[in-house]
Amino acid sequence: MAKAIEVENEVRAVDFNSMTVKDLKDYATERKIDFAPKVRKADLIQLIMENDDSQIEELEDEEVEILEDEEIEELEELEQELEPDDSNYDENDNEAIDELDEEDSITDVDDCIKAVKSLPGVGEATLNKLIKSGFSSLESIAYTPPSIISDESGIGEKTTAKLIKASMDRLGIGFKSGEEIWEHRKNIARITTNNKELDDLLGGGVETGSLIEFFGEFRTGKTQIAHQLCVNVQLPRDRGGIEGRALYIDTEGTFRPERIIQMAEALDLDYKKVLKNIIYGRAYNSDHQILLIKEAANIIKDKNIKLIIVDSLIGHFRSEYVGRGTLANRQQLINKHIHDLLRLCDIHSELAIMFTNQVSAKPDVFYGNPLTATGGNIVAHGSTIRIFLRKGKGEQRVAKMVDAPHLPEGEAVFTITEQGIGEP
Ligand code: GTP
Ligand code: MG
Repeated sequence: MAKAIEVENEVRAVDFNSMTVKDLKDYATERKIDFAPKVRKADLIQLIMENDDSQIEELEDEEVEILEDEEIEELEELEQELEPDDSNYDENDNEAIDELDEEDSITDVDDCIKAVKSLPGVGEATLNKLIKSGFSSLESIAYTPPSIISDESGIGEKTTAKLIKASMDRLGIGFKSGEEIWEHRKNIARITTNNKELDDLLGGGVETGSLIEFFGEFRTGKTQIAHQLCVNVQLPRDRGGIEGRALYIDTEGTFRPERIIQMAEALDLDYKKVLKNIIYGRAYNSDHQILLIKEAANIIKDKNIKLIIVDSLIGHFRSEYVGRGTLANRQQLINKHIHDLLRLCDIHSELAIMFTNQVSAKPDVFYGNPLTATGGNIVAHGSTIRIFLRKGKGEQRVAKMVDAPHLPEGEAVFTITEQGIGEP
């Protein structure tokens, strides 16, 4: 096509119509084209067009073809065929990805970045710094304290404060009415645990937009529930899922694909697809764990992630920060990490985050109440639900609701079998 346009431009470059008859005659004489002394302008142009081969030679030199209309049409058609057609494009040849609406979310990601780019004072360099440090949407900027954005992106605090203010203005964030909070809560979806009592205890399953903690002693089923949720999040809505992917952050090396296969097969799912839809990150130390969550912020929409597992949340912190002198430091870091997670829940109402926590005696000694806002500008949609697990008889386990702002306290009994979490 480009060639055809070039040809057209080339021919039009000499506009005979705008030339005077005298100039036309000079032009013809120069090129040894014969014409009658009293020739009409139109005839003279015709003569020149027919006999002037200088331009054609020029074009041939450049190897530019003169295309017939039909050929141009054919080329246009061919070009259209060759253009990548997004609707048929399937990067991983994975049907499950189609089912999970990834393409819609790719557009969302582009839109988010465009929105950040449009903030006053954001040039390419600032935009890159923001994206690299995980602030690729207005929400992620608006909900993060300025000192954190500044520390992580290297952008000065004054600029950061302006960016936050502008993001908040764009999003219309400020005080909200109870009705608006209710609107947000109405969008919350739930993931089944495979156990009716436990689902009921949770108000219908593990809810999105919230941070949920399962804590208890060793072998009480924390990791098993985490595995089960990674499978169940992928289920269609009419089977208790939310058709999303899971991101599994494993700090203890206890993720077992074999268990996923057993659980997927028990639900008549194609285990290969189920495994493909679990994105796995092994965190080797607390810094790495914090970093993985920051990176997660950038892929949640892109990869259609609707569940994040952190198993376990404080293991690394506990082993790395030993001794009294380091306790305050450790708790501060854990608090920050929990707030990173809470912010993700605030930003993505379709995302559930489940973390596990091992305890031996008092569950509360490891960190402060995560619900206590520590300043900043978090708009608290994000709530925290805490479930305490203990062993029952044989395969049975008991889950107790400990701390949920909107759910009654109570207990549920579930089992752990080869098929996964189940009914007693
Ligand atoms: P820690 O990580 O050590 O704190 O424990 P946890 O709470 O994460 O324990 P986990 O979820 O790994 O539960 C382990 C228990 O699950 C085992 O004691 C088994 O009773 C049960 N379990 C795990 N896999 C299977 C299985 O394939 N079949 C059956 N029947 N039970 C299993
Ligand atoms: Mg475990």
